[in-house]
Amino acid sequence: MVSVGIISDIHSNFFALEVVIDYITDKIDALICAGDFVGYGFQPTECIEAMLDYSLPTYYCLGNHDVGVRYEYCKHLGIKGGFKDLKFFQLDEVRPAAKTMFKRNAKDLSDKNYRFLKNLPLHRDFRLGQKSVHVTHGTPSKNEKDNIVRYLPAPPIQPLRQTIDLAQGFSGTKDVDIIIVGHTHQRFYINRDRIQGWSHIGDRYSNKKVNYPKEFSFPRDKIILNPGAIGQPRDGDPAASFAIIDLESSKIEFHALQYSRKKFYQIAKQKCAPSVQNSSFWEIIF
Ligand SMILES: [Fe+2]
Repeated sequence: MVSVGIISDIHSNFFALEVVIDYITDKIDALICAGDFVGYGFQPTECIEAMLDYSLPTYYCLGNHDVGVRYEYCKHLGIKGGFKDLKFFQLDEVRPAAKTMFKRNAKDLSDKNYRFLKNLPLHRDFRLGQKSVHVTHGTPSKNEKDNIVRYLPAPPIQPLRQTIDLAQGFSGTKDVDIIIVGHTHQRFYINRDRIQGWSHIGDRYSNKKVNYPKEFSFPRDKIILNPGAIGQPRDGDPAASFAIIDLESSKIEFHALQYSRKKFYQIAKQKCAPSVQNSSFWEIIF
């Protein structure tokens, strides 16, 4: 095991995922995804099938939108007890546009797609070469709801010490070498007690150019990393964002690849009723 691809927050955006898979597959030996395979976008089945059929070893975990789509699928088909392991999830805490897309995505799912979502764990713990790895969508914690919905942002949203304490304060991650999260859709990378890089926060509508270093090294130190989002970045750069870790040279590279946003809009217009295509809907979806 030498190189590992790290992705998160695909959000049913197959145009973005396809470009990333084409680029990454011959450069890595395994793939990690920190959840939110579905929700927001319009191609949930294509995204799930690409991830199910992926040709390399994979390490996936559950995201809050995976939970939401699974919830709507169970409701739609009247699957009794299909949701009893996820009682902490509260639909009334979700924004209306996201709820609309839970339903929309759920209607597209096959039984095989549903089983993929159902089998995703709240977190994964495994080894890659000499390194121990913990991956969860939101925040590492013994509280299941935190794993799914609690954001772990980097500075300046919260002080660096708080980010590190939250990530490493849980007994399950205290001595872990590589902690991976998603959910914020914003990249950051912390090496032991220093933040080495992060994307400009929050303003995905400003088109501000993200001034972000592309490569870091991590000789022996513990790291905490968010690769950003494949399908819906929120850091001022709409390109599909991901990372590659080279365990041999101890290097991390961050990448952002362009894809056809025009095709995304075309399929959105075909699949989504005009009644929900208002500006606030688009603002949240994409
Ligand atoms: Fe997400």
